[in-house]
This record gives sequence, C-alpha cells and structure tokens, in this order.
Amino acid sequence: MKNYSSLDAFWMPFTPNRSFKANPRIVSRTEGVYCYTDKGQQILDATAGLWCVNAGHGRKEIAEAIGKQALELDYTSPFSFGHDIGFEFAERLIKHTPDPLNKVFFANSGSEAVESALKIALAYQSARGKHGKFKLIGREMAYHGVNFGGISVGGLTPNRKGFGPLLQVDHLPHTLDIEKNAFSRGLPEHDLEGAEALEDLIKFHDASSIAAVIIEPVSGAGGVIMPPQGYLKRLREICTAHDILLIFDEVITGWGRLGSAFAATEFDVVPDMIVSAKGITNGIVPLGAVFVADAIHDTIMDAAPEGGVEFYHGYTYSANPVACAAGLATLDIYEQEGLLERASGEIGQYWEDALHGLQDLEQVIDVRNYGLIGAVQFAQPEGTATPVGGAMQLKCYELGVMIRAMGNIIAFSPPLTIQPEEIDQLVAAIRAAVAELY
Ligand SMILES: Cc1ncc(COP(=O)(O)O)c(C=O)c1O
Repeated sequence: MKNYSSLDAFWMPFTPNRSFKANPRIVSRTEGVYCYTDKGQQILDATAGLWCVNAGHGRKEIAEAIGKQALELDYTSPFSFGHDIGFEFAERLIKHTPDPLNKVFFANSGSEAVESALKIALAYQSARGKHGKFKLIGREMAYHGVNFGGISVGGLTPNRKGFGPLLQVDHLPHTLDIEKNAFSRGLPEHDLEGAEALEDLIKFHDASSIAAVIIEPVSGAGGVIMPPQGYLKRLREICTAHDILLIFDEVITGWGRLGSAFAATEFDVVPDMIVSAKGITNGIVPLGAVFVADAIHDTIMDAAPEGGVEFYHGYTYSANPVACAAGLATLDIYEQEGLLERASGEIGQYWEDALHGLQDLEQVIDVRNYGLIGAVQFAQPEGTATPVGGAMQLKCYELGVMIRAMGNIIAFSPPLTIQPEEIDQLVAAIRAAVAELY
C-alpha cells in the first residue's frame, strides 16, 4: 500500500538517488527466499537482503518474539541498569564463538560494532600501559562500515575520500590476484605474500605503535575476495609474535555464511575480537556485537578504579531488548535447522558447481565462491569506461533476481535456506542478462 505522494523526502543510502527515483524498484513483501515488488513481480533474493537474512524472510518465530518482547519490556536503559534478555542473549551467543571470546559488547549495526572493537583495542593497550600503541592496520578494498574509524581502516576509496583527515592507519594489500588465482574453487592457492606484507608494515611503523589489525576474513563489499590458503593463520602468527591484536570483521562471514558459525571456526584461526551484525538477528532488527577475548576484557576491568565505569563507550540501544528477542529467536532457528553448517554440505557444493558453470561465458574472467557466498567478475566492456555490474544488477532484477554489483563484479549471498532449483534460477538469470547486455 502506498501512503506517500512522492519519493523526494527519503534520501536513500549508497544509492544513485536520481536514477533510482526515475526508475524505482520498490519491494512490498518478502517471504522465504523471495521478495515481491509493488507490481507483483516475484524476485529471488540472491543477496539475503544485504548479506543478512540468513534464515530467509518471513520467519514467524522471530516476528512473534519481537512482538512479545515489545509488550513485556520494550526498553530500559542499558547504562547502569540491566534486563534479563540482554544477559540471556550474550550467554547464548558465546556458545557459538571460539574460546576465549566469551565477552559480548553490544552495538546497533556493523559500523558501530567496528567502532566499538577499535575502541576496545585502544582501551586495552592503554589499560596495560602501552599508550604508544594506537595505530590501526586495515586492508585495501576492505569495508568496515561507514563511521570514521571504519572508513579509516577501510580500503574503498569512494568511501574514504572527501571526509577529511582520518585516523592514523596503514593498509595491507588486498589479496585479489586474478592472474594467478582465477576460477579457484574455495580458497585460492597463491599469495601468502599478502600476509607477509604485515611484517613490512610492522618494520615501518614499529610494533610498539600498532594496536590492532582488522580484516574481513572474506572481503564482501570490496568484491568477494577470498583469503588465500594459510593467509589468516599467517596473519595470526605475525600479530601474536608482535603483540598486536587481530580483529576479524565477521559482519557478513558470521552466522553460517561460510558453513560454520564464524570464519574463525571455519578456518580454525582465533582472533582477539570478532565483529558481528546482520545475520545475528536475521537482519530483522538492527543489532551489532563485538565478541571479545576474556583477557582483553579483564585487563580493561582491572585497570579501572573499583566502582567506576571501566569503558567510556556504549549506545542508548546497546542490547535493545527487542533486538535481543529477535536474536534469540534467530539463534533458535539456526540451531534447530542446522543452518550454520548447511553451506558446508551438499548445497555448498551445488552452489560452487553452478557458479563455476558460468566459466564458459567469454566475458567472465573470474568466479569466486566459498560456503554460500559467490561472485562473478566480468571483463571491462570494450569502448566504455562504465563497469558492467550496475547494468547487470538492473537486468537481473528485470529477470526476477536480486544481486549486488561492485564495478565489474556481481556478488551473491542468498539465504542459507536456498534450494538447488533457486540456485539454477540465479545462474539462468545471469546467463540471460549477459546475453542481453553484450
Ligand atoms: C564487513 C562489514 N563490516 C561492517 C559493515 C557495516 O555494517 P552496517 O551497515 O550494519 O553498519 C558491513 C556492511 O555491509 C560489512 O560488510
């Protein structure tokens, strides 16, 4: 139902507003792996919203939990007061995190959770008297949300430029190397040098000035870039050797996307903190969280005078009761339906085979996949400087499939409930879009 007279008032985020408003794409209903437009068209949601609706749309259990919580306890201050559901949710969450990440700091989004993790890293270094350790290392092509800390460590130029002086950071090289690794299935073989580059940055800045390294185990918004085999383990070794914290931003890789609860579990590499959001509530209510190693938490606690606030940071809506209720109901679904592991089973193999089947298209220069995440990269079309991703996204939508576009890359991260025939539908739409566009 349309209760507005124009599209003018809503300034849309990360959207070409003028062209969208000239040709709007309005979703009016969602169910399972599908969205339905205001014109009644059924669209396969091959991106799980924005990498977040991992259990699929329209989950009644979550909606009911939200309604019940809002009627029972809608809101109370999280500053110096508590509510049961916040403690219950934190305890349930850490059943899924690797030991020793047993403390949860709540925020309201991935961006805020990233900021919280960076501030925890700095607070930890200063709590143990290492006041000079304040620099942060991110990575090229990384996306860590849109707040100032996140864009400082982030590596996507359009998101950084034009926002003035950022934090004191440096960046690792990204690990996309199509020449050596094109069409790798799962993790590519080459480029451990990308991890060794951390040693060079440490030599340059000196470990005594570096607080933390933050990376996405698999880069999402930068174009679905996989870590080469052994890369994450090597980063862990280097960070440990130089007394530098390692933060995994698992806003998209968390909650079953790669076939385990977290990339940390999947790749058997334990960072000092994990940043989470999106799938933590199935995307239905905003919530972010940082999972923090006990020792970091305890150091910050012990450094503060007894009875005083130990960490001057938090949000009005940290551990919002309704968000916690959504999160608990989401965990029930993940656990009961085995969704956190589903991507590592037959459906993950089907996904890999289906996407790699697109290799025969001459315009395709790479296919990347892991778990239920994937991307196809196209050659830059001749005779134009405009990348093809945007046009592919629009064409696929016309053909009934929602995908993400980043330059010449199209990316997919469907609900973890997706079935083989729906994967076939995605691949068929990509083929049809290529046939129409080239
Ligand atoms: C890896 C990563 N970190 C942080 C964020 C920011 O999350 P939010 O948009 O909830 O602030 C995103 C969002 O896509 C992300 O992919």
